[in-house]
Amino acid sequence: MEIRLVSLPVEPIETEALAVVGFQADLPEEGLAWEAARKLDEATGGWLAEAYRSGEFTGKLYETIILHRPPNLKARRLVLVGGGKRERFGSQELRRAAGAAVRTLRSRSVTEATMVVEGGAEEVAATIEGAILGNYEPDRYKTERKNGKPLERLRLAVPAPDAEIEAALRRARIVGETQNYVRDLVAEPANRMTPTLLAERAREMAAESGLECDVLDAGRMRQLGMGALLGVAQGSAEPPALIVLRYQSPEAAPGGVHVGLLGKAVTFDSGGISLKPSEGMDKMKYDMAGGAAVMGAMRAIAQLKPSLPVTALIPAVENMPGGRAQRPGDVVRTLSGKTVEVLNTDAEGRLILADALTYAHRLGCTHLVDAATLTGAIVVALGHVNAGAFGSDQALLDRVLAAARAAGEKLWPMPLDEEYKEQLKSVVADLPNVGNRWGGAITAAMFMKEFADPLPWVHLDIAGTAWLEESKPYMAKGPTGVPMRTLVRLVLDWR
Ligand code: BES
Ligand code: ZN
Ligand code: MN
Repeated sequence: MEIRLVSLPVEPIETEALAVVGFQADLPEEGLAWEAARKLDEATGGWLAEAYRSGEFTGKLYETIILHRPPNLKARRLVLVGGGKRERFGSQELRRAAGAAVRTLRSRSVTEATMVVEGGAEEVAATIEGAILGNYEPDRYKTERKNGKPLERLRLAVPAPDAEIEAALRRARIVGETQNYVRDLVAEPANRMTPTLLAERAREMAAESGLECDVLDAGRMRQLGMGALLGVAQGSAEPPALIVLRYQSPEAAPGGVHVGLLGKAVTFDSGGISLKPSEGMDKMKYDMAGGAAVMGAMRAIAQLKPSLPVTALIPAVENMPGGRAQRPGDVVRTLSGKTVEVLNTDAEGRLILADALTYAHRLGCTHLVDAATLTGAIVVALGHVNAGAFGSDQALLDRVLAAARAAGEKLWPMPLDEEYKEQLKSVVADLPNVGNRWGGAITAAMFMKEFADPLPWVHLDIAGTAWLEESKPYMAKGPTGVPMRTLVRLVLDWR
């Protein structure tokens, strides 16, 4: 999508559709709280207020209405988008309102539009991100696209375009497009996104972005002693890959902070010998969403150039119940030297991340953040709204939570008390890969902490948030791209 800034006033803007936010209010005048909206209302002789008075538009969040041929404007259509209550309207609501406007237009095959934005860089960024995200449909394998036509050209009408706003536009475009890049990776079915194919995509992306890329194959994993990663991989005919991407900051001081981003990339999780029920198993193609988000974060980081080095580690495997598959009760030796009794082959994410965490340490990372569709238990705890955030270090956890807030992604802090570790006792090995029924998301995190220690580490369990079950007015159902924006923000805002 082509995006440009134009300046107000709106009357002379020639466009297929001119979109503006209207708020929820008792009186139309209050709903038109943006000066731009009030001016539009004046110019059209009260068209916007009339939409309120007729009851056809109430300003409820993400509600949209289209008015054709507004008088005295060059625009062919006027689109009113609900912003909800004025006092609760922030970047998050604006991002989604922009998405809702775009989805309304794209469903009607309107391919060009102008959005009126009141505010500065932050508002412009939110609008652009929302518009790009709303424009996405995971329909690449449809021979006939029935969901209308995507928006091709978007203009933002702002009070005063300046360098700061131009910079925000650039950043928002990179972030929005990268989030759709992540969604594309996650949407791929498992037959078209094997560990090998994911590694190929990583190499391509690295070459385009100027990142270093190293892919460890099964042979190198064996030499190093990554028994946990190999144990998961051995049940599949598809070979595993450990994708390592490196961003070297030009300004980085030697001996300084070096962030490691880790992402679970199980390209299909059948459960292995501890086979999952067949109902809903198709969805387990999204078990690589953490890895895809980390790949996306690196893509954006390469363009936005933060001032510290970042290394990504993405263990990619397929978890299958083949004849060579590991069995419940098998014992594997991890790269760290610790042995694990694999009591449940469906708890595979923590196994592959265990070896990746140890390897991140060896590559010189000083701070670790992982993203993983790790447990069904986090979905029970937090539903599909918040991802769970576990931290072994309060300062790093605070940074990640602040980054999520700034990026407009939802995280909720989860506990890691020592008492939970009592569940992780094995008779035959150093630890089992599962605890009992209770607090499953926490014991999964406790397991990984054993391998992250002593480095400061945050784990994001995105099982409930990486996939949207139902379409929203502002976003198609399917992969969300979460938590790519948080990871990018974390390293960009590091001081
Ligand atoms: N990939 C799943 C977790 C998951 C569940 C992701 C639902 C998305 C939606 C993970 O590998 C898994 O199978 N976890 C098990 C752990 C259990 C065996 C201790 C789970 O959550 O049931
Ligand atoms: Zn899994
Ligand atoms: Mn599993």
